[in-house]
Amino acid sequence: MIRKHSLAIGVSLAVLAVGAAHAQANRAEVIHWWTSGGESAAIQEIANGYKAAGGTWVDSAIAGGEAARSAAINRIVGGNPSTAAQFNTSQQFLDIVKGGMLNNVDEVAKKNDWDKILPAPILKSIKIDGHFYAVPVNIHMPAWFWYSKAAFAKAGIAAEPKTPEEFFAALDKLKAAGITPVAFGGQPWQEKIVFDALLAHIGGADLYLKVYKGDQKAIASPEFKNVLASFRKLKGYTDAGSPNRNWNDATSMVISGKAGVQIMGDWAKGEFQAAKQTAGKEFGCFPGFGPKAPYIIAGDVFVFPKTSDAAAIKSQQLLATVMTSPATQVAFNNKKGSIPIRTDVDAKAMDICAQQGIAAMKDVSRQLPNSEMLVAPDITGALQDVVTKFWNTNQSVDDAVKAVGAAVKG
Ligand code: GAL
Repeated sequence: MIRKHSLAIGVSLAVLAVGAAHAQANRAEVIHWWTSGGESAAIQEIANGYKAAGGTWVDSAIAGGEAARSAAINRIVGGNPSTAAQFNTSQQFLDIVKGGMLNNVDEVAKKNDWDKILPAPILKSIKIDGHFYAVPVNIHMPAWFWYSKAAFAKAGIAAEPKTPEEFFAALDKLKAAGITPVAFGGQPWQEKIVFDALLAHIGGADLYLKVYKGDQKAIASPEFKNVLASFRKLKGYTDAGSPNRNWNDATSMVISGKAGVQIMGDWAKGEFQAAKQTAGKEFGCFPGFGPKAPYIIAGDVFVFPKTSDAAAIKSQQLLATVMTSPATQVAFNNKKGSIPIRTDVDAKAMDICAQQGIAAMKDVSRQLPNSEMLVAPDITGALQDVVTKFWNTNQSVDDAVKAVGAAVKG
């Protein structure tokens, strides 16, 4: 889908009609994919902030990241863009930046000193040729482990696993206790996210970076083969209902204690919270194995499609300001499960998982960019296909190694 888009953008550039119909003052139509319980509660905080600032919020929620991004791009290319649209903090919107299809938010960025306050990987994703083309709203870490305290207790798991070996031993205990060890959503993007998590947490930060830089020696190494073998092994701990399951349905399995653990981004925490569970009480979280585990930086941004309509531009500026204001940042991120993009907000009220995230963010040596920041969307798409094939067939590790090697070449 992503690859089809690059093509569509290239072809349509010549015929791009910029600007929508005259916009109503302070009306903002926002395309996003936040449709789960936790996600809806979180975006509501941004909508409330926008309304409080005098705006009219028009919510265009579209289930599924790929579907929402496609819809946003189709609207832009078709000359009928929304006021704002969600993308991940990544290279997903680079084509539309290069195609001159977005308004920049330089003014808001300057006023808020983004050059100083934003972490380097986020800055790198949104600042292109000296201009700011997206508003970051959160820092998500896509490779957390979320577990049911009741399930761990029932299985006799005394402590959070500190190594991959301890992790698989804990999964064996859950299995023996009659609990589905791993809550898994078998959709390509989730398979890829879990694969990346094992690459970082079992393979390590160096291997992760080398693989995404296309280092063929690293891809053929025993360490990378071990990551693939571990990923295959993990499948043995998932249930028969996992194919095509939504990520939040997998989270529900951990919330109810039917499953032991889910490997997923911290947006999962939004679901626990929406179910009135508290971090450290009913559920636990660890961002990897041991105190120095790599902390992958990902997240969400909003882009502002090009328009020459003064009212629409005003709405875009107002949205950008509200989205990054300290009050909205705290309210939104508390419900979203992510941590704020600003370091100048009061984090004391945040839960133990967010506290771990904030501590990890202070140690630059732990920070790793999300894979979609490192490679272009077509390579992400090709790798996602490879990972999905490996997960869902009996393809050998050696054949998967060859396929990864070819995919990263683009
Ligand atoms: C991610 C996004 C998160 C999230 C998740 C599941 O792409 O960064 O904010 O909620 O999708 O919808």
